[in-house]
Amino acid sequence: MKNTSTCMHRGTRREWLTRMGTVAASAALMVPARAQKVIVIQFSHVVTPDTTKGRAALRFKELAEARSAGRVRVEVYPNSTLYKDREELEALRLGAVQMLAPSLSKLSALGVPDFEYFDLPYLFPDAASFRRVCTAAVGASLLGQLEANDIRGLAYWDNGFKVFTANRPVRLPSDLKGLRVRVQASKTLVSQMKTLGAEVSISPLTAVYEALRNGQLDAQENVLTNIESQRLHEVQSHMTLTQHGYLAYAVLVNQTFWDRLPAEIRQVLEGALRDATQFANQIAPQENQRALAKLKASGRLAIHTPTTGEMEQWRQALSQVSRQLPASMNPAVLEAMQRAMRAPP
Ligand code: LMR
Repeated sequence: MKNTSTCMHRGTRREWLTRMGTVAASAALMVPARAQKVIVIQFSHVVTPDTTKGRAALRFKELAEARSAGRVRVEVYPNSTLYKDREELEALRLGAVQMLAPSLSKLSALGVPDFEYFDLPYLFPDAASFRRVCTAAVGASLLGQLEANDIRGLAYWDNGFKVFTANRPVRLPSDLKGLRVRVQASKTLVSQMKTLGAEVSISPLTAVYEALRNGQLDAQENVLTNIESQRLHEVQSHMTLTQHGYLAYAVLVNQTFWDRLPAEIRQVLEGALRDATQFANQIAPQENQRALAKLKASGRLAIHTPTTGEMEQWRQALSQVSRQLPASMNPAVLEAMQRAMRAPP
């Protein structure tokens, strides 16, 4: 009974999104000649405007609008005001929005499970290694596989390393045992938390504050900008700078919308995105440093930097995760990522 009603609910939402997609596609592409001059791009995302992704989306808007001399209007909808995590992917697929920049951890929902290799703990020693993977053939090939969903991957945007927060001290991997921990919807992240003996909870970012506040969750992992901007320090007492995983984004556009744009507009948008990408990658480390300073200044969190010995224990404990990945993931992709990381800059 429960399943039936869930299915009906999902069916209704799907129909609604399909209708929305049709309406949005018509609005963007098939309006009468006079109104056609302005092409509207709805860009939805799930974080606040003052984070790396939020600021880069606004930079893209500014550049696209200025360089198209008003022929393009980019409407940025931050902080899940339009759609939450999973809904936004469905909305993009159906053309109800034109652009998104979801985290790579969420992209296996589009039938490309190999994106979850990006979630492997301690895979990337630094941001430069991550970028080498993005600019290599393997990075392009992963984005290319999204085309089956009528989605085109245009760019990767950086954020940075994730840390753990909890409602008690978490100095060592064993301290997470039995805690209920929020992760993004990625099997690799589920496996990461199970390896540590934690209970896993997958929820949209916007639900995390309340779940931590009311005790449904004990802990979570995220980048510093998201912890600070979602005010998670108000509902957590401890943070440990484990830097155990990397969080980054893919900038996606609805393929049908993109293909129907006039060639000169596509060119303008590509240029605006190139510059917004450079901007995102440049500000990402500073934004996380700024967030850390604010978290320290808040005085709400006990912040722990692991010693070398403790860090070794985190690496050791999490090294098991790569051995527990689903069979749907292709090990050749991980090998290509590792080769790209080793390639000279
Ligand atoms: C999360 O859900 O924690 C992140 O994907 C949010 C984001 O987009 O940075």
